[in-house]
This record gives sequence, structure tokens and C-alpha cells, in this order.
Amino acid sequence: MTTARRPCIGVFDSGFGGLTVLKELVALAPDADYIYFGDTARLPYGSKSAETVAKYGIGAAHYLEQHGAQMLVIACNTATALALDQITQASSVPVVGVVEPGAARATAASQTRKVVVIGTEATVSSHAYAKALQARGIQATEKACPLFVPLVEEGWADHPVAEQVARIYLDQAFAGDFESADVLVLGCTHYPLLKPLLHRLAPGGVTIVDSADSTARVVSQLLRKGLPKPSAESERRGMPRLKFFVTDSVEKFRRLGAQFLGTPIEDVQHVELKE
Ligand code: DGL
Repeated sequence: MTTARRPCIGVFDSGFGGLTVLKELVALAPDADYIYFGDTARLPYGSKSAETVAKYGIGAAHYLEQHGAQMLVIACNTATALALDQITQASSVPVVGVVEPGAARATAASQTRKVVVIGTEATVSSHAYAKALQARGIQATEKACPLFVPLVEEGWADHPVAEQVARIYLDQAFAGDFESADVLVLGCTHYPLLKPLLHRLAPGGVTIVDSADSTARVVSQLLRKGLPKPSAESERRGMPRLKFFVTDSVEKFRRLGAQFLGTPIEDVQHVELKE
């Protein structure tokens, strides 16, 4: 009996946060195997220029393609916002970013047609989410929340300090014309870990849209349409195979990454990318 290979999907992020996207991919598209590239030596991307992020993103995309990726998911909101077009042009496989799926879900969820987007400085300055939402007839305000990434990486997603910070950010965002906004888009890989806190603090009736989960739904639909179907035998194998490449400490990635992925991380390899 011949065994069709399971499709291999490459997932790229600046570091650990993209594991929230991988977690949703594994849940919603379990018939694929995944290779993950975390550029941990060069994070954060959220304070870097578009040129730098595009250069790093293209390098990572090439690496994932060389290692067999048949589709690329740009899990990093900053890399999607700043460099999706360049990464797509430089790749020879389909590329999916996180902004369009998040904007589409937010549009479907909003009654008032007003949406608040939170993300890194770079994502917010690019206005990628506002443009994607405006193209769908939605008014958006974007709020940079630079303290959230370090708080989450410190393991303080539910700490009183995170609560204090979140209150300030949300008060500033849901103000003026946007008091009536009814959707909050989590436009950063780290923010799904803050979801319980944000649910508690956002104004009543606000729907939280997580671009990680929205993107995984889009990938699962694409897989159903396009890439090789898994054979009965590989389906019986059950769980996707996961392999990780990181540019900084393997040990730190294992330790911190498990919080984002929700399961232990095993197969990690250190890589050195040439500039
Ligand atoms: N992965 C980034 C994002 O989603 C957050 C971390 C960083 O700034 O590198 O925007």
C-alpha cells in the first residue's frame, strides 16, 4: 500500500508567541505535520522597522521551504502587518498571514461596525488591521500595548500588574467614538494568553476575536481544498508531528514555549541564519 505523505506546514514567528497559532492549528487542522521557526535571537519584532522585519521574515520563509513546508503561516502579527507581501513574493508556496483572517472574523462579529484592535507598536503604526477592516466597511481604532508582550513572557498574564496595565490600555482604546465598539481584536501572538483577563476587563458585550484561532480556521479550510490528503494510514497516526527550529537557546524555548503551546516541546533544534 502506498502512503500519501501528510501535508507539511511551516509556521513562522519572531519567537514564542506564534505557538498560540500553532496550538490552534494543531486543534483545527490536525491532519498536517508542522515545522515551526521561532526567531528567538532577534525578537522582539514589534519595535523593529519594516525593512528589518521583511529581511528576517524572508530568511525564515526560505528556511522553512527548504525543510519541506508546502504552505507557510506567518503567525507573527508584526511580520504579517509589515512584510506579508514581500514574504509572499519571495516564497514559492502559498503564504497565509494573520491579519486578514482576524479582520474577517471581526467584521462578522460586529453589529456596531466599530472595532478596537490591540497589537505591538509596529503593527499599530502599519495600520494593517485598520486598512483590512475599513475595506470591509468597519471603523477601527488601533492601540499599541507594548507592555503586554514582556508581561506574558514573564508569566504574569494574570498578575495584578497586568490587570492594572490592561485597564489603562482598554480605557484609552474604548473611548470617544469607540465607546460603542463591540469587538476587540487580539492583534498579537501573545495576547491569547491574556484572554481571561481581557474578557473580565473589556466593556460588557464586547466579543474578543483572536487572530490565532481565525487563522487556523482559514488554514484548515485551505487544507481541505488543496494540499495532499492524508492517507488512512497516516490518519491513524493521529497527532501531527511537530518540529521546531529556533535561533537562540533551545532550553529557554522548551521552557517558555510550553506555556504558549500548552504541551511540552520536544523536537527543538538550534539554527544559525546567515544575514
Ligand atoms: N510575535 C509578535 C506579534 O505578534 C509579538 C512579539 C514581538 O514583538 O516579536 O506581533
